[in-house]
Amino acid sequence: MTDLTERRIVITGAAGGLGRDIARTCAAKGASLVLSDLDQDALNAVQAELAETGATVETLTADLGDPESIVAFGKAVGGPVHGLINNGAIATGIGGIGFEEIPIDSWDKVMTVNVRGTWLMIRALAPALRASGSGRIVNLASDTALWGAPNLMSYISSKGAIIAMTRGLARELGPDKVGVTAIAPGILTTPSTEYVPEARHTLYETGRAVPGPQGTGEVADVAAYLCTVPAITLTGQVMPVDHGFVFN
Ligand SMILES: NC(=O)c1ccc[n+]([C@@H]2O[C@H](COP(=O)([O-])OP(=O)(O)OC[C@H]3O[C@@H](n4cnc5c(N)ncnc54)[C@H](O)[C@@H]3O)[C@@H](O)[C@H]2O)c1
Repeated sequence: MTDLTERRIVITGAAGGLGRDIARTCAAKGASLVLSDLDQDALNAVQAELAETGATVETLTADLGDPESIVAFGKAVGGPVHGLINNGAIATGIGGIGFEEIPIDSWDKVMTVNVRGTWLMIRALAPALRASGSGRIVNLASDTALWGAPNLMSYISSKGAIIAMTRGLARELGPDKVGVTAIAPGILTTPSTEYVPEARHTLYETGRAVPGPQGTGEVADVAAYLCTVPAITLTGQVMPVDHGFVFN
């Protein structure tokens, strides 16, 4: 069902966690990849792993907090680009704090990287996505923005913005046959959630329609599918991929 052969896909935040697993899945489905993150050495390790499977993988650092870095990245990537998976974000170490206690600079950094960075990355790659004739943008949101998770205000606000951006961009880019979707996972068993209190993990594990913990596999599968040609029909949709913790 998911065939990504002859599709060139850019994945941000691909040095570890969910982004690396999305890269593994897309490579297994035949995509050629451009992997990005802050740390070139970590990207090189992912590239080496995937190259052993025969995948074509380019790597290039870009700082989602730095507009010039993103513009330079877009130029270096060139075109065409068939998929852009906006996975890179500040996703850890910012929760467990009430909304009145968030330092201003922490709030600004989350918004700058997660929201502005995603917008600028899409802007930088829009010509290459249009040029492919079937560009797909997949934005990583979070189901925390849908159910209103407490004590995570900067993060859920940034992911709420990603959901709104997805919907508006679907209409702006639809005439160019570029599809834009968002995935809203629940809490996953990634290193980024190890700091989250046990009570929040338990809330998810007992509250899912399919109870228990969730790994990255299904999220990566859905992200890969959303980069296919037929996935254009889903443009504008926000998909919780969380074993039924929230229904959208
Ligand atoms: N893990 C979860 O439970 C979960 C749940 C819902 C949504 N998500 C989303 O999935 C995505 C991946 O999450 P993860 O759990 O793998 O987190 P993670 O922290 O392991 O990965 C995020 C990646 O983004 C990169 N990044 C951070 N700031 C950057 C910057 N300024 N420029 C470029 N790259 C930068 C990091 O280096 C890291 O590799 C995020 O968008 C996150 O919000 C994760």
